[in-house]
Amino acid sequence: MDMKRPPCPRPLLGACVLLSLATAALVGHVLLHDFMVVPRELHDFSQVPKEMNQAHQQRASGPGPQPSLGAAPTQCDVPPNSRFDCAPDKAITREQCEARGCCYVPARWRPRGSRMAQPWCFFPPSYPSYKLGNLTTTETGYTATLSRDTPTFFPKDVMTLQLDVLMETESRLHFTIRDPANRRYKVPLETPRVHSRAPSTLYSVEFSEEPFGVVVRRKLDGRVVLNTTVAPLFFAEQFLQLSTSLPSPYVTGLAEHLGPLLLSTNWTKITLWNRDIAPMSDVNLYGSHPFYLVLEDGGLAHGVFLLNSNAMDVVLQPSPALSWRSTGGILDVYVLLGPEPKSVVRQYLDIVGYPFMPPYWGLGFHLCRWGYSSTAITRQVVENMTRALFPLDVQWNDLDYMDARRDFTFNTDGFGDFPAMVQELHQGGRRYVMIVDPAISSSGPAGSYRPYDEGLRRGVFITNETGQPLIGKVWPGPTAFPDFTNPEALDWWQDMVAEFHAQVPFDGIWIDMNEPSNFVKGSVDGCPDSDLENPPYVPGVVGGTLRAATICASSHQFLSTHYNLHNLYGLTEALASHRALVKARGTRPFVISRSTFAGHGRYAGHWTGDVWSSWEQLSSSVPEILLFNLLGVPLVGADICGFLGNTSEELCVRWTQLGAFYPFMRNHNDLHSLPQEPYRFSDAAQQAMRTALTLRYTLLPHLYTLFHRAHTGGETVARPLFLEFPEDPHTWTVDRQLLWGEALLITPVLEAGKVEVTGYFPTGTWYNLQTVPAEALGSLPPPPSAPFKSAIHSEGQWVTLPAPLDTINLHLRAGHIIPLQGPGLTTTESRKQPMALAVALTGSGEARGELFWDDGESLGVLERGAYMQVVFLARNNTIVNELLHVTSEGAGLQLRNVTVLGVVTAPQQVVSNGIPVSNFTYSPHTQTLAIPVSLAMGEQFLISWS
Ligand SMILES: *[C@@H]1O[C@H](CO)[C@@H](O)[C@H](O)[C@H]1NC(C)=O
Ligand SMILES: *[C@@H]1O[C@H](CO)[C@@H](O)[C@H](O)[C@H]1NC(C)=O
Ligand SMILES: *[C@@H]1O[C@H](CO)[C@@H](O)[C@H](O)[C@H]1NC(C)=O
Ligand SMILES: *[C@@H]1O[C@H](CO)[C@@H](O)[C@H](O)[C@H]1NC(C)=O
Ligand SMILES: *[C@@H]1O[C@H](CO)[C@@H](O)[C@H](O)[C@H]1NC(C)=O
Repeated sequence: MDMKRPPCPRPLLGACVLLSLATAALVGHVLLHDFMVVPRELHDFSQVPKEMNQAHQQRASGPGPQPSLGAAPTQCDVPPNSRFDCAPDKAITREQCEARGCCYVPARWRPRGSRMAQPWCFFPPSYPSYKLGNLTTTETGYTATLSRDTPTFFPKDVMTLQLDVLMETESRLHFTIRDPANRRYKVPLETPRVHSRAPSTLYSVEFSEEPFGVVVRRKLDGRVVLNTTVAPLFFAEQFLQLSTSLPSPYVTGLAEHLGPLLLSTNWTKITLWNRDIAPMSDVNLYGSHPFYLVLEDGGLAHGVFLLNSNAMDVVLQPSPALSWRSTGGILDVYVLLGPEPKSVVRQYLDIVGYPFMPPYWGLGFHLCRWGYSSTAITRQVVENMTRALFPLDVQWNDLDYMDARRDFTFNTDGFGDFPAMVQELHQGGRRYVMIVDPAISSSGPAGSYRPYDEGLRRGVFITNETGQPLIGKVWPGPTAFPDFTNPEALDWWQDMVAEFHAQVPFDGIWIDMNEPSNFVKGSVDGCPDSDLENPPYVPGVVGGTLRAATICASSHQFLSTHYNLHNLYGLTEALASHRALVKARGTRPFVISRSTFAGHGRYAGHWTGDVWSSWEQLSSSVPEILLFNLLGVPLVGADICGFLGNTSEELCVRWTQLGAFYPFMRNHNDLHSLPQEPYRFSDAAQQAMRTALTLRYTLLPHLYTLFHRAHTGGETVARPLFLEFPEDPHTWTVDRQLLWGEALLITPVLEAGKVEVTGYFPTGTWYNLQTVPAEALGSLPPPPSAPFKSAIHSEGQWVTLPAPLDTINLHLRAGHIIPLQGPGLTTTESRKQPMALAVALTGSGEARGELFWDDGESLGVLERGAYMQVVFLARNNTIVNELLHVTSEGAGLQLRNVTVLGVVTAPQQVVSNGIPVSNFTYSPHTQTLAIPVSLAMGEQFLISWS
């Protein structure tokens, strides 16, 4: 509690005491402060300059005249950074502003274009908002009524609201604000249901009565993580606004946008309305994830998730504060208390779902381009890759394979033997994925195109005002749009996928254009003029209208209007495709989608869309990959070497090196650009790319294990440094490096012409994996030409590393053990190779690691127990494995080499399972001990040296 404030507010003394007692009686002694009504007079004056403070207090001390709408308010001495915009909908004059009951103070300058700045028209502290009443405790928390007397400047205020506060778990608070009289749209996402209040919580909740506000504190340090009292609550038919103060300006989340991992709180607006557009900054992109994570002083963190799928803006301002401005639905808010950033991520995924487990082959290298115009060309690509000894697991095709660009068809000119090509890929141990767009060609004569005929018959398409399928235009020309919220559409999609699969035995589906993208505004017949098409508040969408590059907001879907469901289109198609693949193939589905929404990772991965072949987009891919990992979509990557425009050799080498560490690794190119397959470049460039690809394949058992942990434990795969080192604030802004799991730090070159790179190394020892002599790790590619330096002993510092064109810097953190496997040109091959362990000892000689292994593609392996899980432990010059779970799945898996990094004194003898190992090698220079062994991964072993 703020010490300046009396524990119980005077004007509401009776109520406060009663409620506190009621609460205390309910939940015991800990929660005396959990439930407190703070009247608006008790402002926190500490942030206001002194003179203002006095003026303010004078006004606040008496009953004071309540400002009525239409009269200029008197309390306009709000610090510029704490002003909340009273004209979010349009630019207004002083008169219009004051008519809204707001303050008008022009700033010296106004930024140009769409950039934001402090508002000229802002709410006075006295601006009428909702008042809290009927506060009652419930089984799970509290309930109350919110009511306002005066309407706002938005049409159709909901004057009476219901607040439900659910103290769901120790770290999760959930509250909803809705219209008790009308059932408004609510996001149809399955979320956890909780029936009783958590016995103890990391947070306390307080309420401000008038103006209404919710305050959430971290009990540990009393820090206020949420305070919605800072600006008036809006809840009108088509405009909802909830603002909160932030305890720190270090905020990430709110995808999808292009830019640094941490958002600027210097007047930033992020618009969430899924849109087909080549990624650039300050625009709404393909996906919507209304979740943010805040790093707090001392390395703690919290997160807030607004479960709302309507078009919205999220505004960040320097006080710091954040405002959600949504155009519909309800306010469904989760506050997650961590306390570590990692826990916040897991707590978020507890709500939206843990990521799906990809097939092992999905982690191999994928190759695609728009313009592989025939099976002959596609075959050549695979042959040329193989001849040049580049690993390739999955060959793809873009639109080229289709007949007249229609889904579930293939053209007989170039792709006459399409099924045979896919079978050949399978025979070579490879897989095949092709593009499928959601829009279904609608222009052929009846009976000519089964997906449309069948879709019409089964009523699966989104309909327009007159109840007929809305017709837009996409690649095949006029198209109808399946409504994946309709159960019948899921079955229809499944049938189409299965029927096509019966002809062409593809392995995965690439779903593109699913924002949904539309080449005409709304429909070929335009859109009706209605409130849904022209809401009173239009978020900052590109094109200025909701229908830009998509279908009419007013169109009808099974569950609701497209206005409400638009942002879920990609998610629902991903779900439909995931389900269809399970049915058609009976093994683990592989779906990569452009459009996403919160919870997407349960069903599919994501690629970051139509990026340019530029150094800027190479470097911005790092924060995008990190962000999607924080959002539970770990299977993510950018198009390696860039999609649009021509790449250069150097850019393509650097991109391939970084791309080897995208969890999803695909090189994909546009029709109009110069070729960029790895074999197209000079020998030196090819060698550098081969090294990067080989490195990835060698590390796949570790990557797969990380995916298993994400799938079962809500972890990230690629992760920002702050997730591992939250207490070191230097890590917070690092978004030009990434970690794989806890242990592997990747420091890529992201600029042209550089042969050095500077990266941040948190406290500890970091072993340079690539400069460990090749024979030591056996399966790792040969050391690059970089000057030798085996380890960095960091006290938390920036280190400049050599990074010639053939090198990507890769460091293994002391204390960790990772499994490696001899690479192959496919994962089918590499999975048959023996394994190796890289053991990175701490100063005290300890390390730990893990391997998860199964057949790489079956469904239900965890349920059936058809997997192997082994933990590796190093301590006191000994390495042992702990068999958590073994079955026949891992029976053939051999361990051949163990490399121990950080062995300070030369060992005299090495023993493996009681048998002396005579041919071990030790390098005093690199302090590396290489032990050839002959062990089974699935049987207990003990290796020691002395
Ligand atoms: C919440 O915000 C209001 C309005 O700015 C302020 O008066 C109040 O002191 C804040 N409450 C806390 C606990 O920080
Ligand atoms: C915020 O942005 C404005 C306008 O771009 C700039 O002048 C100002 O220096 C920025 N402030 C901070 C703290 O970055
Ligand atoms: C494959 O390599 C051959 C021989 O270098 C070349 O002629 C052909 O154009 C290449 N094809 C593709 C699609 O890369
Ligand atoms: C609805 O779509 C049909 C085509 O399916 C079209 O003929 C009709 O004109 C559209 N109605 C409106 C109001 O645009
Ligand atoms: C083990 O190391 C030897 C050289 O010491 C190497 O030839 C072999 O390829 C390595 N095997 C594995 C599986 O790493």
